[in-house]
Amino acid sequence: MTFKVSGAELFDPLVVKAIKSGAYGAISADKILEERTKIKYPEYLSPYKAEDAGKYNNFKNVDGAKNDKGHLGDPTFKNLFKPGTKVKTVDLSPNYGTEIDGIQLSELDDAGKNDLALYLETRGLAVFRNQDFRDKGPAFAKQFGEYFGPLHIHPVSFAAENYPELLVTYRPAGGAERYPVQFANSTNTAGWHSDISFEEYPSSFSFFVALEAPESGGDTVFLDLREAYKRLSPQIQKFFETLTIIHTNYYQNQFAKLKNYEARVKGDYFTEHPLVRTHPVTGEKSLFFSRGFALRIKGLKQQESDSILSFLESHVLNNPEIQVRASHQGTESRTVIAWDNRISLHTAIADFLQHETPARHHYRITVLGEKPFFDGSVEAKTINGHSNGHSNGHSNGHSNGNSNGHSNGHSNGKSNGKSNVGDVSLDKLTIS
Ligand SMILES: [Fe+2]
Repeated sequence: MTFKVSGAELFDPLVVKAIKSGAYGAISADKILEERTKIKYPEYLSPYKAEDAGKYNNFKNVDGAKNDKGHLGDPTFKNLFKPGTKVKTVDLSPNYGTEIDGIQLSELDDAGKNDLALYLETRGLAVFRNQDFRDKGPAFAKQFGEYFGPLHIHPVSFAAENYPELLVTYRPAGGAERYPVQFANSTNTAGWHSDISFEEYPSSFSFFVALEAPESGGDTVFLDLREAYKRLSPQIQKFFETLTIIHTNYYQNQFAKLKNYEARVKGDYFTEHPLVRTHPVTGEKSLFFSRGFALRIKGLKQQESDSILSFLESHVLNNPEIQVRASHQGTESRTVIAWDNRISLHTAIADFLQHETPARHHYRITVLGEKPFFDGSVEAKTINGHSNGHSNGHSNGHSNGNSNGHSNGHSNGKSNGKSNVGDVSLDKLTIS
């Protein structure tokens, strides 16, 4: 059984030749100025500057587990779903992911942001509609993100002008001519990953802000790594808790070189993280298999590592029961998608390339989390009806379905009154 790290295609000279000639859709550095003339928010697509090469480093976040804002969140989320505010929420699945309309993220006070952190740590993923984020400018976005922790500067991805902390994903507007270019050498573009898992201090939260988006398609699909862990037998859970995965950005850097992207942060990383990690706030365990950056399992022989990684690929990625789809729904939906990378994988979806669409253009604020750790002695907490990734009765939290007009966004007809206090670039070679 073999397992190929994402990007291993770059060892194939024919693939390299195809990428150099524009296959796979990702634009070259020299095309950015031209693209900027065609888009609504050109300040969020900066040309690479030679003087930025190697100019930046990323922070360590040694106290990340202790400083996580989720520790300060109120388990009833009363500062996020404020009494008297009409909020419509739809759970994308019972355990994971919620779509929310009626909360303006930019207006949250500190208590609201603390609740947001805990909410993302509980629900995993939230899709916020009708946000004013993108019109408040990059300085605001940076400041908003910094509340939650140090921000990541991506080594090679696109970024906003003068704001390297704002990663940009970009797919040009166009029509059916994009389709054969993208799929000339590959049947699909799925690139499942947890953002920047190759870092020593990978991301806690990502905020993904739509600038322009197709009316239909170009969604981001997410999955719940807590549930991926829970589905395993106790024997395999115990075994996996002993394993360490080596994550790398080596192939991402190789791809960037082919497209002439300058590296703002230099370095090919081979970073070790536990396969099973403990969440610093909820205590929940998750199966931290970041497919796109997983190179091999530390200490195992090649065939052993390949077999286990292949099993993980099948187990984690091929189970629709743990997946949900977060739709961007066009430029006017003003969507901001936020997630907890410690318990989520995601991939972009390129299902719109045979249609006439605007650009798919987003920026991402990527907050650094703690160094991943496993602590088998920690008991998972129950937060607002959720225990270890599961909804137990779902009594009063964010489960108001299609309710409209109910008063505070987190109480509904299903409530029994009981208080239970107690998450990209588009193709697999440019995952980020
Ligand atoms: Fe991503």
